[in-house]
Amino acid sequence: MTASMRCGIVLHPAGHTRSPAMHTAAYAALGLDADYRAFDVPPADLPDAVARLRAEGVRQFAVSIPHKESMMNFVDELEPVGRAIGAINTVTLEGNRWIGTNTDWIGALRALERAGPVDGRRAVVLGAGGTARALIYGLRERGCSVFVLNRTIERAQSLVDELGATEAGPLERFPDLAPELVINTTSVGMNEDRSPIDAAWLSKGMTVLDAVYAPEETRLLADAKAAGAHPVGGKWMLVHQAVEQLRRWTGLLDDAPAEADYARMPEIMANAFDAADR
Ligand SMILES: NC(=O)c1ccc[n+]([C@@H]2O[C@H](COP(=O)([O-])OP(=O)(O)OC[C@H]3O[C@@H](n4cnc5c(N)ncnc54)[C@H](OP(=O)(O)O)[C@@H]3O)[C@@H](O)[C@H]2O)c1
Repeated sequence: MTASMRCGIVLHPAGHTRSPAMHTAAYAALGLDADYRAFDVPPADLPDAVARLRAEGVRQFAVSIPHKESMMNFVDELEPVGRAIGAINTVTLEGNRWIGTNTDWIGALRALERAGPVDGRRAVVLGAGGTARALIYGLRERGCSVFVLNRTIERAQSLVDELGATEAGPLERFPDLAPELVINTTSVGMNEDRSPIDAAWLSKGMTVLDAVYAPEETRLLADAKAAGAHPVGGKWMLVHQAVEQLRRWTGLLDDAPAEADYARMPEIMANAFDAADR
């Protein structure tokens, strides 16, 4: 048995998070002695909270809303991907230094790849907030053309300029673009029966990922299924970004898990996500 690991997630409010259940299931399946807790940290408490985590022996933690951007100010080193995206969701104490990085982008790519290849495809990202930034970065890394459509066009335009996407526009541009990949990063559909786009704009062969994961089948995903497109739930983005965190943290151990062990983790974490919902 490896020495006990103390991990967690820093967010606010903490009520709804399923991350502790997902990570705890993964550690148990790997036979690792670890605990993973939710730390509810209001924005004003963030500087003290980071110091407190260190004092309590927490050496690795996830970062969620609303701290993904502000946490960049409290790490000793930002990995280039975190700097490029402008947000971090993963912090690891290496030696005496907190290192910040981002796994949302790779989680989203792995989720899309569950439905088919991503490289070089024509993609539409709906939304221009923090999650859109991670998606645009990832899709550009894979050589995709990326159209960013948002209610507030100026926000989409600044992401296009900053992250080197193809073009910005309003949501109504969608039908002209004939995308192969569609990713919703707006909050539309969260705990409501609403889609950010018209169902008639979706068609057979498209892959549609909704970052929203509550409900599990959003209106957008139901419309995608009805249109013969490939729907991918936000649960899978959440699961795959968590697997990449796990890889980062356990990969540093003397007896790090084997690749075959990591390959089992998405299903294990997804089952824990489902169970936490009941
Ligand atoms: N599955 C995962 O692993 C994962 C990871 C991260 C986030 N998420 C989810 O992704 C969603 C977005 O998170 P975020 O942090 O990127 O949020 P954010 O930074 O607040 O951005 C919200 C986006 O939604 C748009 N929007 C909000 N209300 C709208 C409306 N009524 N009509 C049209 N557009 C609207 C905003 O448009 P404006 O610019 O016009 O305001 C903006 O583009 C959340 O539901 C979050 O839970 C999931």
